Amino acid sequence: MSHADDHQGTRRDFLYYATGGTAAVATGAAVWPLINQMNPSADVRALASIQVDIADVAEGSQLTVKWLGKPVFIRHRSEEDINYARHDDEADLPDTNARNENIDPAADASDANRTLDEEGKWLVMMGVCTHLGCVPLGNGAGEYHGWYCPCHGSHYDASGRIRKGPAPENLPVPVAVFLDETTIKLG
Ligand code: FES
Repeated sequence: MSHADDHQGTRRDFLYYATGGTAAVATGAAVWPLINQMNPSADVRALASIQVDIADVAEGSQLTVKWLGKPVFIRHRSEEDINYARHDDEADLPDTNARNENIDPAADASDANRTLDEEGKWLVMMGVCTHLGCVPLGNGAGEYHGWYCPCHGSHYDASGRIRKGPAPENLPVPVAVFLDETTIKLG
């Protein structure tokens, strides 16, 4: 094979690959809008997951953030809160399910199954009464050192478990995770 033939062959190979490459791009361009339509829009994705800075949430206080249009309570529990909550593990609980989206759906409502960390310092819950959706009052409110919903008188304990009143379920724990020591991601 002459040097010229060799060069031509190389050029043909190049054209062949270039054509193949173009075809691949064209296919990709045709498929991508379909895939893109199946994904939620950017603003929905942004809302579906938020990061919360908890560095300034003092022990014994609660930060309320709005997520997916609803309040979320992020409580930095004191030793006293934890003691109340863990002592009440022994109580007769109306709802014996943990209602925690991060663990086995069948897990029991012990306090350790509801907090975000093992020590029990952080309790993250939807701030929506499970009766008819009012926002309960916090900071040790009600008869069980937790939250109280004045709409129809539901009392939640220091673990957010329903103890008295018409609400049927514990305040639900949403999908949440620590990204680092001072950042919690919801969703
Ligand atoms: S909405 Fe909370 S007790 Fe009815």
